[in-house]
Amino acid sequence: MDQNELKQAVARAALDYIRPKLDNDSVVGIGTGSTANCFIDALATVKGQINATVASSEASAERLATLGIPVYELNSVDRVDFYVDGADEANSALQLIKGGGAALTREKIVTAVATEFICIADASKLVDTLGEFPLPVEVIPMARGHVARELVKLGGDPVYRDGVITDNGNIIIDVYRFPIPQPAVTEQAINAITGVVTNGLFALKGADILLLGTTDGVQTLYPR
Ligand code: A5P
Repeated sequence: MDQNELKQAVARAALDYIRPKLDNDSVVGIGTGSTANCFIDALATVKGQINATVASSEASAERLATLGIPVYELNSVDRVDFYVDGADEANSALQLIKGGGAALTREKIVTAVATEFICIADASKLVDTLGEFPLPVEVIPMARGHVARELVKLGGDPVYRDGVITDNGNIIIDVYRFPIPQPAVTEQAINAITGVVTNGLFALKGADILLLGTTDGVQTLYPR
């Protein structure tokens, strides 16, 4: 199985996981990225059973709408039952790095609202210690220099993601060479820098379940 087939397998597994739990009022949160796109495509096969979705990016909202799946603003719904999204890295506590696709802030907002966060990823995303993948930080544009200097003080190597503007009109700084042994501490420390909107660590609220695509099939992991 190649990486794309693994992504499709975990997307189907996520659909199988939530489908028996859906009722007429269910709201499904939709992530962003290539794995989340596989989930959107899987969801389209049962769209008659989907009452409402909310999207974590303009790109996902557009894909949902194109496939005829009802998509709402987050402020129009009073709950999100399930949030299904990929990750750039996950550890065994199901703490994540996200934001490779620059959608981290909206992803974190939907995560905050969701009752259950189902992370879907291929096996390459599971790591012992977060931080090999550069940590994305969404920053108010005028604070770019200040935030970069503060990230250096925290021990990282900040690099401006050239040419990228988020759905919220901000920029992304990726922090390289930055091992993260205590993800919740680092998440709070970076969020405390003035000018940071949020960072791509999902540690204070991580995933509740990880459906991991391996060549031996989809494994179901819970936080350890
Ligand atoms: C989007 O901003 C990210 O958080 C994605 O969830 C993450 O980058 C995983 O993307 P892929 O599924 O494309 O690997």
